[in-house]
Amino acid sequence: TESARSTPDTRSARPALPADRGGCPFAPPPAYREAHRTAPVTRAGLWDGSDCWLVTGHAEVRTVLSDNRFSADARHPGFPFLSPGRRELVNRATPSFLRLDGAEHARQRRMLTGDFIVKRVEAMRPRIQRIVDDALDRMIAGGSPADLVAAFALPVPSLVICDLLGVPYEDHGFFQGRSGVLLDIAAPAERVGTAQRELTDYLTELTGRKRREPDDSLLGRLAARPDVSPEEAAATGLLLLVAGHETTANMTALGTLALLRHPEQAARLQAEPALVKGAVEELLRWLSVVHLGIPRVAVEDVDLGGTLVRAGEGVLCMISTANRDAAVFPDGDRLDLDRDARRHFAFGFGVHQCLGQPLARAELQIALETLFRRLPGLRLAVPYESVRYRADMVVYGVHELPVAW
Ligand code: HEM
Repeated sequence: TESARSTPDTRSARPALPADRGGCPFAPPPAYREAHRTAPVTRAGLWDGSDCWLVTGHAEVRTVLSDNRFSADARHPGFPFLSPGRRELVNRATPSFLRLDGAEHARQRRMLTGDFIVKRVEAMRPRIQRIVDDALDRMIAGGSPADLVAAFALPVPSLVICDLLGVPYEDHGFFQGRSGVLLDIAAPAERVGTAQRELTDYLTELTGRKRREPDDSLLGRLAARPDVSPEEAAATGLLLLVAGHETTANMTALGTLALLRHPEQAARLQAEPALVKGAVEELLRWLSVVHLGIPRVAVEDVDLGGTLVRAGEGVLCMISTANRDAAVFPDGDRLDLDRDARRHFAFGFGVHQCLGQPLARAELQIALETLFRRLPGLRLAVPYESVRYRADMVVYGVHELPVAW
């Protein structure tokens, strides 16, 4: 089969993307660290033989993500794609606002900001707590050991986002399976295209129904607006559904594994539950699950930290190395729940900075605090070495996490 990662890079010694993790499954790939030691902006090679800029420094990532001379619109020539499948998505579908710039991006995003402000999310906490407790009740009733991903990390954010959007949770097998294909850079382009089409058809049908019979859910209100086209409603629904469950699910499972590997840190959290807010920020920083780089393309020549990036050249912002940049995070390789991690880029930066971050924070805080409080004896049920990581997925994490208690 067609595999993005098996395409050999024979042209030069510049790192081929994405690079292997090497020894530590939590640390950025050694090739990116090596690049960062050389300079904050270096060259790298993509699967199709093209080059792009690898941006590894905190200051430079911040510049790229907040400067409108860099575009998020994948239709611009030179936009860096991580795989044939990622390119396929652009050819086939109406872009969501994640891949739009300027006034059009702002118009679409503005319609949704009210649903994700801290005040609204705080009001959702009791409901999130109940979803978390119910999932744990079911996992505990099923007996030890259990797969934490299937029993807890994946259902919790899926239930929360379904509730908010007005998507029937019964369909979770369908949308989780297709989301998995969309985010898999090793999946052949054709499979990615099919998954995309099936999800788009599903959301077109769902939002179409809501347009005829409006309800009070987020997608119900969006679909009923006269200034939102059917294509836009479906594209926004797809973005929110995929972004709303995959990222938080993987942070929950990988965050749990990180705490199990650092029992002294887990003990800190158990002794002092108020630490959970800072703990979640530190885990977001240290794990940087959006790990393959945030793509942008320069639309004008830009001097980026002393490097000339020309119009039409692609850049990939590596938040994993930026989040461990010693200039901002001293001893950044150390997981330290007491650290002030607030300047991390786990949610991106600038106009596209994660819309769902208050929701993601509330979910992670409630999920991790509750998990370690209710199951103080939580431990891995398999040898650490046998855990399988999501190296080929746009959102990093573990495929499954067998735990006992
Ligand atoms: C954007 C990470 C949870 C919705 C982003 C971006 C990152 C990110 C890095 C920026 C992408 C870019 O600049 O190209 C995460 C992480 C999460 C999380 C690590 C969980 C731990 C969520 C949730 C939602 C969500 C729960 C809820 C629906 C979005 C949306 C955007 C976005 C809509 C696009 C914003 C825009 O383009 O203006 N996220 N996210 N995310 N995220 Fe999240």
